Amino acid sequence: MEKNGVERELLEESRQGEALVLEGIGTGKKLYMESYGCQMNFSDSEIVASILQKDGYETTNSLEEADLILLNTCSIREKAEQTVRTRLDQFNTLKKENPELKIGVLGCMAERVKEKFFQEEKLVDLVVGPDAYRDLPNLLEEMDGGRKAVNVILSKEETYHDIEPVRLGGNGVTAFVSITRGCDNMCTFCVVPFTRGRERSRNPQTIIDECIQLGAEGYKEITLLGQNVDSYLWYGGGLKKDFTKASPMAQSTAVHFADLLHMVAKAVPSMRIRFSTSNPQDMKDDVLHAIAAHENICKYIHLPVQSGSSRILKEMNRGHNREEYIALIDRIRKIIPGCAISHDMISGFPTETEEDHAETLSLMDYVKYEFGYMFFYSERPNTYAARKMEDDIPLEVKKRRLAEIISRQQVHSAERTASYVGRTLEVLVEGRSKKSEADLYGRTTYNTVVVFPREDYKPGDLVQVEIERATPATLIGKAKGYAS
Ligand code: SAH
Ligand code: F3S
Repeated sequence: MEKNGVERELLEESRQGEALVLEGIGTGKKLYMESYGCQMNFSDSEIVASILQKDGYETTNSLEEADLILLNTCSIREKAEQTVRTRLDQFNTLKKENPELKIGVLGCMAERVKEKFFQEEKLVDLVVGPDAYRDLPNLLEEMDGGRKAVNVILSKEETYHDIEPVRLGGNGVTAFVSITRGCDNMCTFCVVPFTRGRERSRNPQTIIDECIQLGAEGYKEITLLGQNVDSYLWYGGGLKKDFTKASPMAQSTAVHFADLLHMVAKAVPSMRIRFSTSNPQDMKDDVLHAIAAHENICKYIHLPVQSGSSRILKEMNRGHNREEYIALIDRIRKIIPGCAISHDMISGFPTETEEDHAETLSLMDYVKYEFGYMFFYSERPNTYAARKMEDDIPLEVKKRRLAEIISRQQVHSAERTASYVGRTLEVLVEGRSKKSEADLYGRTTYNTVVVFPREDYKPGDLVQVEIERATPATLIGKAKGYAS
């Protein structure tokens, strides 16, 4: 792991190696799963667990016990792929001890590397891309007799709309609900459009049914997930890019992201609603008004920008420039006062100059983000940038610029958390604090973590907490009673 304290890397790191345990009802076959990368992968693993539960698998958190090991992988940066390869190496001894053991690779790396995996990593038996999980039972059958199996076909339709995910390793309070799959944006640095395919949206009724079901099971918060949630578009099924070919009737009755937010907010009025990830070029004002209109939609927007320089944004094919992004920030501040905003930033994209980098820092000064996920550029095979641009910024320059971005963010995060001291905020309790048994932790609507003495409160409670102290990442306070 890079020693730069990047929050998302930390998050990924903390989740890596986390075994997803499912109390199974299966026939004795044991599945061990690990998930890497984005929230969508964690959500997909819950879909995979559901599909394999029906096929007789129960999950285990013991590698030694496993008949099948699945790694749900990430390709977003080179380091993410290296982590998976190192993990696979560690399974060599297990496979020697138990020749019957099957090892499978799922997710973005499966989609990117495809059957080449079988040559590059000899111990891999199964390679399954993100749209092919329904085929897992057939593929496992195909593997009888020691054969290898692969399905990396990307789909125009697959949204797993009717699969009830098995909630794995969660806190029983917050859950993910996927709403779109794929991305059509083609940012020049990004591998996602290649590994996750074209954009398609899930039937809103199945989304609402899943949210209602989660509420009935005691969940208190849902995060609607997609690579690009603002691009959500339901017109009866099919790819987003084919919308213009749909019938006039289908077009006029289509459900857009703002409509979906209104629908979900009304369907589960006592649940908190979050969503991720928003894309500046696709985020329209109707979405901002929907957030403002509903008490139960959290006042927090993750709005990746990647760079503060219009020239670099153009090279990245981001579809907006610095001024347009700033105008969107201004509209957010106006329509949703107090709204928290976070970012993703990349340092050292090809051709980035010190002036471009200074523009990134000055954009950060303008927005004063609540927090951010910050990375240095990592060239990904087959992307436009890899094919057409030279990765010309030396690693030490990328890292120095990243360090400057991170330290600027820390100043802003500290300012922001300090501004909450003395206020009383509503906190949804997610669990016991990792540092102290006597404390609980939860989040505010702004997605800021709050820690406070447990008393008689418990996970799932909505508590009024008076904030007494703050670190750049955490608020510390004292409960004042239940929120009404
Ligand atoms: N829309 C997505 C974004 C996926 S990638 C979502 O749902 O989160 C997450 C972040 O990784 C991007 O916003 C970008 O900041 C970073 N990233 C993507 N490709 C990268 C690359 N080649 N090098 C470094 N960082 C990258
Ligand atoms: Fe990647 Fe850009 Fe889509 S970052 S996921 S291509 S919006």
